[in-house]
Amino acid sequence: MTGRVIVVASGKGGVGKTWFAISLAQALALRGRRVALLDADTGLANADVQLGLAPKLDIGAVLSGKATLADVLLPHPAGFHLLPGRSGSGALADAGEHALTLPRRLGEGFRDVVVDLGAGIGTAQRRMLAVADLPLLIATEEPTSLTDAYAVLKMLAADAPTAAPRLVVNMAASHGAGQHVHATLDNAARKFLGRGLPLAGVVRRDAKVRDAIRAQVPLLTRHPTTPAAADVTAIAARLG
Ligand SMILES: Nc1ncnc2c1ncn2[C@@H]1O[C@H](COP(=O)(O)OP(=O)(O)O)[C@@H](O)[C@H]1O
Ligand SMILES: [Mg+2]
Repeated sequence: MTGRVIVVASGKGGVGKTWFAISLAQALALRGRRVALLDADTGLANADVQLGLAPKLDIGAVLSGKATLADVLLPHPAGFHLLPGRSGSGALADAGEHALTLPRRLGEGFRDVVVDLGAGIGTAQRRMLAVADLPLLIATEEPTSLTDAYAVLKMLAADAPTAAPRLVVNMAASHGAGQHVHATLDNAARKFLGRGLPLAGVVRRDAKVRDAIRAQVPLLTRHPTTPAAADVTAIAARLG
C-alpha cells in the first residue's frame, strides 16, 4: 500500500492544527479508510493529550531505533492509530532525513497518513511539508494567521513547485466569512506565486470544540452533528 500523506501546516500556532488533524483523521476513518495520525510537532506535541491517551513510547523511540513503528502505534477508539510525538525533544529535527521517511513508512500500512506539523517555518516543518501528497494549510480570519499561512505557501512553492496545497479556514464566523478569507489568500497566491490556492473547506467556530478538547474526547465522538464536526466531515468527503 502507498498511503496518501496529508500534512496539516499553518505557520502560526493556536489556529486549531492539532484539533483539525485529529478530527480529519477520525472523519476519514469513519469513511472506512485505514488512518494513521503522526504527531510531528517537535515543540508542543500534544495530540495524545487531546485524545486522552498516555503513550509509553513515542516517535523518539522509533527514530532512535529502540522500537518499531508497530510497537509505538497506539489504536484509538475513534478508529485510527496515533504515532505519538515528543515535546521539546527536537527528535524530529535532529533525526533529519530519517524522520522524513516516517510518513511513507506509515503509508505502507495505512491508506491515509495525517501529519500534525508544528507551528513555524523551520527546517523540520519545511522538509516534512515538501514530502506531502496533500499539503493542507490552516488559517483563521486573523491577519497574522493569513500572513503566516502565506509565508508557508511561498516556502512550499519554492521547495516543491509541483505540490498542490489546499486551504482550510478554521474558526470562521460563517461559511461566507471563511470564503472571504480564502479569496484573500487565493488572490495573493495568484498574483505573487502565479498559482491559486484551492479551498479544501471552511470550519466554523464552534464552542463544542473546546468542550471536546477539555473532555479529551474527539469532537466527532462527543458532538458528531455540531457545526464544526459537520464541516470536517464535509472536508473529508471532498478529499475522497
Ligand atoms: N473550529 C473551532 N472552533 C472553536 N475553537 C476552536 C476551533 N478549532 C480550534 N479551536 C480552539 O483552538 C485551540 C487551539 O487548538 P490546537 O489544535 O491546539 O491548535 P494548534 O495545534 O494550531 O496550536 C483549542 O484549544 C480549541 O479550543
Ligand atoms: Mg498543535
